[in-house]
Amino acid sequence: MPAKGVTQTSIEVRRKRPRDGQNIGVHVEAVARTFTTRRATVVALEGMTLRARGREIVAVVGPSGCGKTTLLELICGLQRPDAGTVRAAPAALMPQRDLLLPWLSALDNACLALRARGLSRAAARAAAAPWLERFGLQGFERNRPAELSGGMRQRVSFLRSLLAGKPVLALDEPFAALDAITRLQMQGWLGRVLEREPRTVVLVTHDVEEAVMLADRVVVMSPRPGRAVAEIDVSLPRPRHRTDPEAVALRERALAALGVPV
Ligand SMILES: Nc1ncnc2c1ncn2[C@@H]1O[C@H](COP(=O)(O)OP(=O)(O)OP(=O)(O)O)[C@@H](O)[C@H]1O
Ligand SMILES: [Mg+2]
Repeated sequence: MPAKGVTQTSIEVRRKRPRDGQNIGVHVEAVARTFTTRRATVVALEGMTLRARGREIVAVVGPSGCGKTTLLELICGLQRPDAGTVRAAPAALMPQRDLLLPWLSALDNACLALRARGLSRAAARAAAAPWLERFGLQGFERNRPAELSGGMRQRVSFLRSLLAGKPVLALDEPFAALDAITRLQMQGWLGRVLEREPRTVVLVTHDVEEAVMLADRVVVMSPRPGRAVAEIDVSLPRPRHRTDPEAVALRERALAALGVPV
């Protein structure tokens, strides 16, 4: 049962669904995307290629404005490329800004994806409640977003994306707005969640340390117009340690590819 809404419908129509459910991935091939407004024409992406195999976690790092959010929206079918191709299994987006509905409780915000999949309110609540507990939100189910901490809000927002039931998760800087300590805790938390609930993940982040802690592969983008300029395999065992010399070396490679002096 496709979800309501034009964007969801268009995803269903134009997505090719790979037959092998275990190896659902993302193929972005030589994509260009230009925005034309009354004031200017901006080439956001040009020649952008990115691939994620089924259940692979790919981090995307790049300077502000290089087209990372645009890339995720293309993967989720919310935009179309001007050139090149995007093939992906159905994908849920966790947007860059916290888009929880302020008048709904944590539980009902988490339920939104289930409601969009056609579940009744009672069925959605029953399905979502154990997840809130698993995500450390027990006792806060009835709180509105303004009554949750930043880390809790991001967990609810992530849960809403997860409960959309799509094989691909597109995460747009999920922890950028959090303080440094909460961000480190949430990185550990996300790593553990994805071990239990593996998905194909495209994780956009500004933070190369976060990328190396969480991803199987890091794709580094150029300044706008964005394209991939480096790809770094992170074949370190999990759980990973920030101080591991190999992790430090990979971070330095990513920073060098970004043109940041190390
Ligand atoms: N709907 C739009 N209309 C016009 N220009 C847009 C639109 N969306 C994005 N852009 C432009 O495309 C470029 C890339 O934007 P995008 O949001 O993808 O960058 P980003 O890499 O996600 O940046 P940040 O790291 O700051 O979130 C920017 O110059 C932006 O102004
Ligand atoms: Mg962005």
